[in-house]
Amino acid sequence: MIKKKVLLNYGSQNLNNLNFKKISQNLIQQTITNGNNCLKFEKNICKLTNSKFAVVCNNGTSALMMSILSLNIKNPIVIIPNINFVASSSILALMKAKIILCDVNVKTGMVDETCLISILKKCKNKKIKPNLFIPIHYAGDILNMKNLSIICKKNNIKIIEDGCHSFGSKSIQKNQSYTVGHSKYSEMTTFSFHPVKNITTIEGGAITTNNKKLYRNLLLLRSHSLEKTFKSDPYKMLNPSLNFRMAEINAIIGIDQLKKLSYFKKYKNNLVKEYLNKFKKLENFFTPINFIKSEICWHIFAIRLKNKYFNKKEKFMNYLNKNNITTQIHYKPIYKHNVYKKFIILSESYNSDIFYRSQLTLPLHTQMTKNEIEYVFKKINLFFSSI
Ligand SMILES: Cc1ncc(COP(=O)(O)O)c(C=O)c1O
Repeated sequence: MIKKKVLLNYGSQNLNNLNFKKISQNLIQQTITNGNNCLKFEKNICKLTNSKFAVVCNNGTSALMMSILSLNIKNPIVIIPNINFVASSSILALMKAKIILCDVNVKTGMVDETCLISILKKCKNKKIKPNLFIPIHYAGDILNMKNLSIICKKNNIKIIEDGCHSFGSKSIQKNQSYTVGHSKYSEMTTFSFHPVKNITTIEGGAITTNNKKLYRNLLLLRSHSLEKTFKSDPYKMLNPSLNFRMAEINAIIGIDQLKKLSYFKKYKNNLVKEYLNKFKKLENFFTPINFIKSEICWHIFAIRLKNKYFNKKEKFMNYLNKNNITTQIHYKPIYKHNVYKKFIILSESYNSDIFYRSQLTLPLHTQMTKNEIEYVFKKINLFFSSI
């Protein structure tokens, strides 16, 4: 039983045994940003994901922004899931793009073929022609990119995969493994290395692609889109852009974290198994249907309360919080954020609304112990036996 007062966050970094010597050695070098360590980190990401190119940057939001800009779409009309972090929607609003919100499968929180076909039907009826789709691999889970890409190809829609939750997740098909980021069925995949993600560089992000032209665009976009000419006019400005570069010390941390990824994955998968074992005895909520897949690198442990407990969710979250178990909601549907209203031209949200009312995220990270899972389980049990 736990004696110390715990604060169980829904996610946490694991920077144990960080090589501070390597970091301090870098700080006295000439190049402390966007140098050889970034290149090495990119190479290692390519190796992991089996993609041809990788570009690291300063966070996952930048990765999304650079990806969208790199496609040079004149009038972006973009389909994104309603269950979504606010990164892609805010970028699109800042770009004054048109946003189409797609519904999600209520069991996975992700867009599936039915959701995509449904929103495309609505688009057709209204003579709207979307040109970009940015789905999310949710919680560590993996989208069926092959099937989604067939639908997008037929409709002339490009795809950027938001893989920020699912770095290191792998699917096995016909004895072949596909790690998220292979980008076989999309233009690009983006990642975040924020502290709670599957690996962290403190802040950081990356994009993988197999398209050389897009790779070149991304490299330019990362540094203001300034091309050196080596002439008396020293720079050619290609497009307006920003500074999205990663510092070398972040890349050094990333290289180290990559080495620990399979340990993180195994550790979290064991915790998930422990949760599932315990939760078999409870009948108050559902766990995501894919939790049994061992090749998935779980980012968060998302559960959904059954209908009759929807109105108890706030009380439940407050109760857990009082017991030092911090929870989160992943996510509030995008259409509910009023700031996006003038950019949203279509929205489907039937399942997203149900998902939002039912979903909450329980602690899952590599600093957590099986004893702490027991503690969370006991508290949950107590709550449901008292209402
Ligand atoms: C699905 C998704 N996309 C994008 C991002 C943005 O990543 P970052 O926080 O590194 O900017 C996040 C971060 O939480 C995310 O969860």
